[in-house]
This record gives sequence, C-alpha cells and structure tokens, in this order.
Amino acid sequence: MNRKVSKAIFPVAGLGTRFLPATKSVPKEIMTLVDRPLIQYAIDEARAAGIEDFIFVTSRGKSALEDYFDVSPDLEAALESSGKTELLETLRNTNMESGTIAYLRQHKALGLGHAVSCARKLIGDEPFAVILPDDVIAAEKPCLQQMVEAYQETGGAMVATMEVLPTQTSSYGILDIASQDGPIVSVNGLVEKPALGAAPSNLAVIGRYILTPQVLDNLDNIGRGAGGEIQLTDAISAEVAAGRNVFGYRFDGQRYDCGSKAGFLQATVAFALARAELHDEFAAFLADMHAVKQAAQ
Ligand code: G1P
Repeated sequence: MNRKVSKAIFPVAGLGTRFLPATKSVPKEIMTLVDRPLIQYAIDEARAAGIEDFIFVTSRGKSALEDYFDVSPDLEAALESSGKTELLETLRNTNMESGTIAYLRQHKALGLGHAVSCARKLIGDEPFAVILPDDVIAAEKPCLQQMVEAYQETGGAMVATMEVLPTQTSSYGILDIASQDGPIVSVNGLVEKPALGAAPSNLAVIGRYILTPQVLDNLDNIGRGAGGEIQLTDAISAEVAAGRNVFGYRFDGQRYDCGSKAGFLQATVAFALARAELHDEFAAFLADMHAVKQAAQ
C-alpha cells in the first residue's frame, strides 16, 4: 500500500457564526493570530509534512481566501522598490504555485463528512490528509509531520488525539480505546459528540487526519449522524467495523481551539509571547494587567 501523503483537504466552508459580526465579511480562516491568518498556519503545517496539493472545500462568501493565496504584483513591486526585502520574502511565502491549489464548493452545509467527500474526485486512490484550520497546534515538530512519520509505520487511518476534560467530551469525536503503545492508540471505534456521561474515553479527535480512499467510500454509505450531519468520525469508525486499522496519535504540542473566542484569544496571547520582537513589551503589558487586577481584588 502506498503510504505517501501528498494531498490535503482543508474544509473551510463553515459560516463562522461564533465570530459574527466579523465573519459577516471576513472568512474566519482569514482572521489573524498576530499577523498571519489562521489558514496560513494550516498551510505551513501541511507543507512541513510534505503536502504538495492543497484542496479547499469552500462555500459562498469565501472569495477572500482565494485572493489571499494569489500573487500580489503591485504590493511586491512596492516592497521591492523600497528595499523591504524581509517583508517581501514573507509575502512571497504565502503565494501558492498555480496548479497546486484547488477550490471546491460545498453547496449544502451537510457536515464535515460531506465537505470531505466533496473532494472525492481530486483524491483518487491514495491516502490523504485533512486539516481543520480552527485547530491551531503549536509544536516543535508540526503535528501533521509527526503523524505522517508515524503513519509510515502503522498505515490504516489516523486521527490526532488528546485528552480533554470529561465535561468537554460531548464537543468532540471521542475514541473508544483498544490498546495503547506510546503515542499510538489503537481504537475499537469512534463516537461523534457523545452525550455527557456516555463517552467511551476522554481522548478527543483533534482536527488532523490521515485517511484512505475507503473512508470516502464509507462517507457515501453512512447516514446522518450527530446533529443531523454527515460525520467524518462515523466514516472513520466504519473502517474498524470493516476490519481495518484506525489509530489515534497523541501528538506533542499545544492545541488551541480557534473556533471559540476564548481559544482564539489564548492562541493570540501565546503566539504573541512566542515572537521575539513582541515578547518583552507584551509580557510587560500582561504583567501590568495582572497586577492591576490583583490590586482591585
Ligand atoms: C469537528 C469533528 C470532531 C472533532 C473536532 C475537533 O467538530 O467533527 O470530531 O473532535 O472537529 O476540533 P466541530 O468542532 O467542527 O464541531
């Protein structure tokens, strides 16, 4: 079985209602952590993992995303003539080569599984990655790269996983654990957003996947699941039922849920502190804020 993972799907069709009114005109994937849109973090992670083809499943109102990846000749010329070479380099790193990027529209909001299945024809017969840009993961070795390396040994289907609080399991896909070996978790099944108290573990699916074309076949055959949507989690669980291996991968790194306001703000603080040019000023500001709050108590 071919284990080279060269294609990635980025489901970016969501309405981003949690960030209204901002998302009235700005796709949530363009919202910035410090100075880079969420989607840029996802692309950089994919590139580090060896991804060569980038497939975006979009929806109405997401054209700003396509523009973001286009070249900007006027801006580049202006930076070049004013000698701003560092900025020019930063800008050029966001350009995507023609032919490596495809945009598909999901015409109906039928869920994550449906969004992924929209890319069926572009995937063909090889394993592929899925990256949910809302899940931003800060890691020394990028998360998807960790997974691609593990996948060379395991094959099967693989999802990123981490422990969440028992009170949070109903917000995630949850693993039913068969056995564990270091970071690799072998699973008996997965449940999407189990009711509180009904979760088979507290290991949650985080938005990085390495999947096989069989999962796409499963998506055609499963019905609607949690929330009345076609769930990717159910199609992965169907692999176990068909006798094929599914693994969770406990990645090294810090995950931020940038689909929520609190998570987005936490990521903003963490990424700002991680920037050498911002660290001192921003850390001093946070310390002051903290001191003022303490004094007021
Ligand atoms: C999606 C998946 C879920 C996963 C989560 C990770 O849910 O359906 O299995 O645990 O992403 O962020 P969503 O957050 O889109 O509801």
